[in-house]
Amino acid sequence: MSPARGAACGKVILLGEHAVVHGTPAIASGIEHGAEATAEPSTDGRSTLLLGAAEHIAGDTGGDLCRAFGALLAELPGTPPLRVTAESRLLPGGGLGSSAALAVSIARAVRAFDGGVHAIDDARILAAASAWERVFHGNPSGIDTTAAALGGCFLYTRAEGASPLALRRDVWLAIGSTGTSGSTRLMVESVARLFERKPDVKDQTLPAITALVRNAALALEAGDLQGLGRLMVLNQMLLAGLLVSTEDLERMCNLARDAGALGAKLTGAGGGGSMIALLDAHDEDQAERAAARVLGAWRSAGYDGLLARIS
Ligand code: PMV
Repeated sequence: MSPARGAACGKVILLGEHAVVHGTPAIASGIEHGAEATAEPSTDGRSTLLLGAAEHIAGDTGGDLCRAFGALLAELPGTPPLRVTAESRLLPGGGLGSSAALAVSIARAVRAFDGGVHAIDDARILAAASAWERVFHGNPSGIDTTAAALGGCFLYTRAEGASPLALRRDVWLAIGSTGTSGSTRLMVESVARLFERKPDVKDQTLPAITALVRNAALALEAGDLQGLGRLMVLNQMLLAGLLVSTEDLERMCNLARDAGALGAKLTGAGGGGSMIALLDAHDEDQAERAAARVLGAWRSAGYDGLLARIS
């Protein structure tokens, strides 16, 4: 019997991270790079997850991955003992939703294993991936797992889930990596503590980010790249005000803007990880030329990046 397979995409948050944890809207999009998993029968009666060189036994007390794998399987009742192998092509802690992409690809492979006995419905996959994410992130908004499961570009709130956005044109981004990773859990906790200590910061920041996100959705649907870029710059200022930006992220944003990007900001939890730069491009040729300028500026400062299309 050949192994069952599952795959899921990574994501970028275009605007609204952190605030989305507190109930406001955010815009995210799936990206091509992601994670893959295979599932086959277990030979020893236990469910194990192979990730890199390490093996994790579901429900074992050996660490977060054992607990997360166990929590994911508990949401997929009727699953026989399986040996699951998974791989992510996304930098962990990089702000690109690596953990959620792994969870969704594993849940899909597990669900595909029984050859259709259980339907592979998105709601069930999302519930399983969310159980996994709660082990790592404590209080995830659900935007990462939603992007990993659905792909595409969408507006998201915790209360209402995803509403797809009808993009007027493709949007081209340079995705930059600081080369360091941040802990989503720690960054989310530090923003929660800041909001507790300074309720006025919370009261001012959340409505401001909400307005930026709502306007960005309009700009995306109207194909207004200049407007979108300005909104990203403002969102970055508010994120820096929440103390989730870093020197590297600020430097990469400045380099990107000096190299012609229309806007630049961190993406995901910050504290390191990744950032995005909006390219001034309406087609693939223009995007490649614009990306070469931004990626070149980053590389000469010791950072790396890649070109991505949001469509
Ligand atoms: O760093 P990532 O890729 O896990 O993104 C986290 C996004 C946050 O808004 C900071 C947290 C969340 O759960 O929405």
